[in-house]
Amino acid sequence: MKNYPLLDVRVSTPTLELRGATDELLDQLAEVVRAGKTHAEPAPYDDPMSFYETDPDLRVAKWLRAIWRRRGAVEPDAWRLYFVVMVDGRPVGEQTLSGMHFATLGTVATFSWLSVDLRARGVGREMREAILHLAFDGLGAREASSDAFVDNPGSNAISRRLGYEPNGYDWGTRRGEPGLLNRWRLTRDAWETRRRDDIRLHNIEACHALLPLS
Ligand SMILES: CC(C)(COP(=O)(O)OP(=O)(O)OC[C@H]1O[C@@H](n2cnc3c(N)ncnc32)[C@H](O)[C@@H]1OP(=O)(O)O)[C@@H](O)C(=O)NCCC(=O)NCCS
Repeated sequence: MKNYPLLDVRVSTPTLELRGATDELLDQLAEVVRAGKTHAEPAPYDDPMSFYETDPDLRVAKWLRAIWRRRGAVEPDAWRLYFVVMVDGRPVGEQTLSGMHFATLGTVATFSWLSVDLRARGVGREMREAILHLAFDGLGAREASSDAFVDNPGSNAISRRLGYEPNGYDWGTRRGEPGLLNRWRLTRDAWETRRRDDIRLHNIEACHALLPLS
């Protein structure tokens, strides 16, 4: 979409690509959402979350509406970039990057999910490394955070492996029930010690032009 270059931002690694979530890509990824391949047990998502909707068409509609709302809200205290994860040219998941008071604090948070048939092969970790590269190398972030319910082995293992340090606990709700969350933080210094030289950022000048980064 030539009039909104934030949607042209891409991050590529040797095994996957994060592409700005255009409506065309979301339309393709919707088939994964409709098929319920976002599911995991124990429930990994905070309420409210469209993926808990049992009707497949309504699930897709709620998911799209949530993305459209947040994608269009770019404010100094909160903005979010949405990416579709592409593996072998196929949309297989979603990766987001949120900035909170970024110009002042330099902090970002990440969120992701991956189609159930590709899990536990290292793709989730590669997605996280890609988005961290954008945050730290591309945008100059100072710190990244990630939260996951304590019984989410994949997300917690990725944070631990990538050098995040435990940052206490929080409570959230999932399907209306309380759940304890691990909070994790990754400092820029810790990221620098593990930074990769095989991740490429594309068209990120759009981030500097269109996001309130400084
Ligand atoms: C979280 C998610 C994106 C991780 O992606 P993934 O491709 O499955 O994860 P990876 O294969 O990269 O695994 C990363 C680590 O988690 C571990 N792991 C993954 N799934 C696991 C499981 N079910 N049980 C135990 N360990 C697991 C791996 O062993 C690996 O650890 P290591 O690096 O120490 O060997 C994916 O599982 C997912 O979409 N889950 C549902 C949605 C979700 O939980 N999103 C996050 C909300 S906070």
